[in-house]
Amino acid sequence: MRHLVIGSGGREHALGWKLLQQPESEVYFLPGNGGTAGIGTNIDIPPTDLAAVASYVEKTKPDLVTVGPEDPLAMGLVDRLRELGVPVFGPTSDCARIESSKVFAKTLMSRYSIPTAPYKVFDSPTEAHAYVERVRKPLVVKADGLAKGKGAIVTKHKTDAHRAVESIMEKRTFGAAGDRVVVEERLAGEEASVIAVTDGERYVLLPPSQDHKPAYDGDRGPNTGGMGAYCPAPVVDEDMLDYVREAVFDRLLRGFHKEGLDYRGVLYAGLMIVSGRVYVIEFNARFGDPETQCTMPVIDIDLGNLMLDAARGSIAKTRVVRPARWAISVVLASGGYPGGYEKGKRISGIDKAEAEEDVVVFHAGTRQEDGGSLATSGGRVLAVTGMGQSLRGARRKAYTAARDIKFAGVQMRTDIGAKGLMRAKKMGVM
Ligand code: AMP
Ligand code: GLY
Repeated sequence: MRHLVIGSGGREHALGWKLLQQPESEVYFLPGNGGTAGIGTNIDIPPTDLAAVASYVEKTKPDLVTVGPEDPLAMGLVDRLRELGVPVFGPTSDCARIESSKVFAKTLMSRYSIPTAPYKVFDSPTEAHAYVERVRKPLVVKADGLAKGKGAIVTKHKTDAHRAVESIMEKRTFGAAGDRVVVEERLAGEEASVIAVTDGERYVLLPPSQDHKPAYDGDRGPNTGGMGAYCPAPVVDEDMLDYVREAVFDRLLRGFHKEGLDYRGVLYAGLMIVSGRVYVIEFNARFGDPETQCTMPVIDIDLGNLMLDAARGSIAKTRVVRPARWAISVVLASGGYPGGYEKGKRISGIDKAEAEEDVVVFHAGTRQEDGGSLATSGGRVLAVTGMGQSLRGARRKAYTAARDIKFAGVQMRTDIGAKGLMRAKKMGVM
């Protein structure tokens, strides 16, 4: 199969790596990064230039186009490419509102009884402030629209919540994304990600994973795009997964149906587990990053065929994919990330890291320099992934390999997978 994968992150590198495990596969990345250039062909077009992408697709007619990031999904890239008669994996912009509008997502969740935190919607800052003043519980204030993953402000005190409303609605930090806000109750628990690939009717559930969003060890510091993840995540046990199928995915797909929406692509449920009870914190319309980097290595399935079936509406039946092993991805980030950071730092040691058995290094912010060397070009630079028959083994692999890789200012968390390890030990699955 000839694949076109849209995006430039570690997620897209991992998807391409997985697709290439099928014989006779070829992958083009648009625009890709320094790592994808090593396994396929990079096409230098920005994914948000819909006209340019459409004209490239029309010319080259790939067997399947997979759209990775949320921005082109929200902008309607899938709608546009479907008109060309090419199979496209990803939801249309109407459906992608499940991620691009928190108000839409919350409305669907309450309409179709999907467990989520109690909330209110405001389009006036005065009313939002008045509500914050009245409520006595800790709150989360969320910009309605896409905000590069930064639009949810978790607050401790009333003053933080007022400040969040001011920042989103009055200072318009995220622009028009802050025209409306969702103000919801803050939940305290452990997060997990559950990802389904769906054709609108049936779905294939991938093993649950767990991201680590805060920048520093012990879940301290500012939120990032994700500093590491592991899969499977033992916090979501069999019973809970059964519950999530029924109470989240079945209900949501029934909901889409009733709303007259045909959802094809990834449905990602970000969960908060509070004393064994599941709440949906958010839905995404795409694979997670860095969850994809640790999920692809644990699933022994033909991903290309699955995504093609989803695009065509022909998934044979709903099923759950069992993990064949454990994997853990440790993100190496640029010094200073998620704040300001420098680019262009020379990276060494990837060959040594990858020479280890059961290690794969997925690239995100890397660029191939003239002369063949590799340099940093983004906040999250690499996701060093270790695999093994135990979480402990996978973790050892990932950290040994991560320490082989050097660039000036490199920053990583040293406790990725620690929560999983503790839980796995307790459950006797180590
Ligand atoms: P979201 O953009 O909705 O996914 O939120 C980003 C992050 O904010 C989540 O991954 C959580 O860590 C945190 N968060 C969002 N909503 C809540 C909530 N109701 N309670 C506690 N934390 C939350
Ligand atoms: N890792 C969180 C996300 O992809 O949104």
